[in-house]
Amino acid sequence: MHIHPNMKMSDLVQSDFELLAVLQRLKIPFGFKDKTIQTVCKEQGIDLHFFLNLVKWFHERDFFPGETLMNHPVKWLVKYLRSTHSCYVDYYIPRIENEIVQMESFDHSAGHNMQLMLKFFREYITEFSSHIQLEEEKIFPYILRLEENLAKEAPDQDFWEKIQGYTIKDFLDEHSDIEEKLVDLRNILLKYLAPPSDNCIFTNVLVEIFRLGNDLNDHTILEENVLIPQVLKLEEEFKKKFPG
Ligand SMILES: [Fe+2]
Ligand SMILES: [Fe+2]
Repeated sequence: MHIHPNMKMSDLVQSDFELLAVLQRLKIPFGFKDKTIQTVCKEQGIDLHFFLNLVKWFHERDFFPGETLMNHPVKWLVKYLRSTHSCYVDYYIPRIENEIVQMESFDHSAGHNMQLMLKFFREYITEFSSHIQLEEEKIFPYILRLEENLAKEAPDQDFWEKIQGYTIKDFLDEHSDIEEKLVDLRNILLKYLAPPSDNCIFTNVLVEIFRLGNDLNDHTILEENVLIPQVLKLEEEFKKKFPG
């Protein structure tokens, strides 16, 4: 499918339903009628090229527009990533947790295994939450201030001091892999646990864990291959513009 600005937004979504997630994270309301991509983006205040680059990547997969995405203001990507965090925290994670709880109550023979699964998943939630919290409370605010300050005639004194001893590289080195534990959980469920009598919910949990894992993978690619390199460039520009 060739995605272009004059294509109807509804045709885009119908040809690849997974793209609904991108629209939702950009907070584009559904109900497009016959409006084109260009019109919807304009009405929602979303840069057309930023939108096209993102959906093309999600749709085509064989081409990663890293360089191109880096040419947009970093605050747009931060907004997108934040919105993705909310999806995980408010929807995906609690839903999977509830389903494991349900499985635990369904079948007593599998109950013990499900208790272990639940324990494992809750440990994962703790790890996941601190990962998200670090990004939301420290990393993203730093990035937004960097971009804001770079545009100023003179940077805020406190920010100038902060950046003297800090670089986003420190964060990248510690950016933990939040997909790995999920893969472990998936493998245990798939390879070693007998499904409880309600096989439907068991299969559904597996599908949802797969989905979340893939989604997190994309999220990490955007953070490590677009966001961080872009911030490194901004830091360099900042240091050139405001030398110590
Ligand atoms: Fe993140
Ligand atoms: Fe992350």
